[in-house]
Amino acid sequence: MDKLILLIFLLQGVWCGDWSISLPEKIEALSGSCVTINCTFDINNTYDKYLTDSAAGVWYKDGHTDNSNIVFNSSNPNLPFKGKIIGKLKDKNCTTTFYDVTSNHEGTFYFRIEGNGPLKMTFRWKFVSIDVIDSPPSPTVQMFKDQMEVKVHEEVLEGSSMCLRCSAKTLCSSSPPTLTWSSTDRLHLNESSRLQLDQQNQTEIISDLNFTATHLQHGVTFICTITYQLHQRNTTAQSNTTLRVQYAPKNTSVFVFPSNSVLEGSSVTLICSSDGNPAVFNYTWYRENGGQLEELQTGYNLTFNVADRTHTGRYYCQVKNHHGTQNTSALLDIQYATKISLFSCNRTDVTVCLCEAHGNPSPKVDWFLSGRPVSNSTNTFISEERLSSTDLRSFISLHQSLTHADTLQCVINNTHGNASQQIQLVASPQEMIHCQQTFIPLLIILTLILILCAVTVGFALYRIRQLSSKLKVYNDAGTYASLQLSAPVSEYETLNFKKDDTQ
Ligand SMILES: *[C@@H]1O[C@H](CO)[C@@H](O)[C@H](O)[C@H]1NC(C)=O
Ligand SMILES: *[C@@H]1O[C@H](CO)[C@@H](O)[C@H](O)[C@H]1NC(C)=O
Ligand SMILES: *[C@@H]1O[C@H](CO)[C@@H](O)[C@H](O)[C@H]1NC(C)=O
Ligand SMILES: *[C@@H]1O[C@H](CO)[C@@H](O)[C@H](O)[C@H]1NC(C)=O
Ligand SMILES: *[C@@H]1O[C@H](CO)[C@@H](O)[C@H](O)[C@H]1NC(C)=O
Repeated sequence: MDKLILLIFLLQGVWCGDWSISLPEKIEALSGSCVTINCTFDINNTYDKYLTDSAAGVWYKDGHTDNSNIVFNSSNPNLPFKGKIIGKLKDKNCTTTFYDVTSNHEGTFYFRIEGNGPLKMTFRWKFVSIDVIDSPPSPTVQMFKDQMEVKVHEEVLEGSSMCLRCSAKTLCSSSPPTLTWSSTDRLHLNESSRLQLDQQNQTEIISDLNFTATHLQHGVTFICTITYQLHQRNTTAQSNTTLRVQYAPKNTSVFVFPSNSVLEGSSVTLICSSDGNPAVFNYTWYRENGGQLEELQTGYNLTFNVADRTHTGRYYCQVKNHHGTQNTSALLDIQYATKISLFSCNRTDVTVCLCEAHGNPSPKVDWFLSGRPVSNSTNTFISEERLSSTDLRSFISLHQSLTHADTLQCVINNTHGNASQQIQLVASPQEMIHCQQTFIPLLIILTLILILCAVTVGFALYRIRQLSSKLKVYNDAGTYASLQLSAPVSEYETLNFKKDDTQ
């Protein structure tokens, strides 16, 4: 009987072409959640009067012939599937939600409408497949730069305005799913991002993460997580994308080995390092010279094999990639031992002495009067004049009466050595003494040499005269002995006399 009615209905359907149903082909249902089947149907308009508010919707599973295939009937709550026809059947809307989805819900479903009187129709020619899944499908993550989609592995320039979009189709659930963003470097996500959650029309959920790309985000992976809160469990799925940012050199620094301050004569190397993408850098070294930068060489390091004091100064390293340049500098300080370049005294009613010293680090000057250290007092006044970071002048005024035996010593030192000079404080007024200790012995030696020369010349002249007179004597037949005696005596006496005079 049922089959006959169906045949009639079918024939009628063929004639009028108005028995129809619209169902999706396939739906994914999250285990533990619900599933909604969007469904609309149409009937031959001669049956419209039988479609009332009391009409029932019936679902068959995995077949449509046997009553045992019936899993849901809107007018019979005792059937195995719990659910609800959420559409209005009277309006030919058979949209249905099944609750508490389990693996039993997996299969093919056919709809049947049961109205009044003869309106009983199973739409056998169309079914929907339900797939039961344990976790939601992964969301889709896309990256846009200035509204243009960025391809995988494509690099963006620092400062680009970025939009990361996470989207997912929403599955039926009691509470809507949420999308959350995280990153491998959380700090950088919070710093510069703005989160926009845009839940479009019940079927899709979108979350945009808008920010300006910075070098800190280079290589950072952004993860979008979709979470469904179910009764028994939370279930999630993730997708991610990695941002690649190109940027100009950053964090450029100069390291000096072994250190910024080295002793003259040793070797020193300056090494320049930088961060950037692409990490292909051009390094150029400059030296500051009277406010101007003088180009030295290229390459990431700069070495002085034998450093000398003229290398002291500020060195700049300029790093360049094709997005920009960055400069940084380091100070090189070549140290050396102290040296006294000038030590002189001027004596009027007071004795004023000056000691000029050089050294790096700057030397310390100490005065000693006849071996005893001298300090600032009423009798002695010490003052210092700093000529540069390495040059120093120290003045001492001695007001006390000085004796012929007094010496003044200037002692200078820095961490690399000592130097000293001493002056005999000769008590002759208005005498300017450039008193090198070696000067007096030198003077004595010079005088002696001069005297020796004079004596030798004198003796030579004497001998010449003697020879000529000897010739005369031979000619005149004079004595030989008288000549031998007189000459050496006078020479010896002259020498002794001169020596005493200089001491
Ligand atoms: C059917 O009903 C459902 C639930 O009320 C609704 O979301 C859907 O838009 C309706 N379909 C049509 C075609 O009106
Ligand atoms: C994020 O960026 C996208 C694309 O540039 C834009 O459509 C969207 O409105 C932005 N969202 C916010 C909150 O600024
Ligand atoms: C699910 O997640 C929410 C929010 O994170 C939490 O409050 C809840 O306890 C979680 N439920 C289960 C079953 O883990
Ligand atoms: C000595 O004292 C004077 C005045 O008190 C001062 O100006 C000078 O700097 C002092 N010299 C030293 C080396 O301390
Ligand atoms: C410098 O002199 C001090 C004493 O004044 C001495 O202890 C030190 O060894 C000297 N240093 C050098 C390098 O001559």
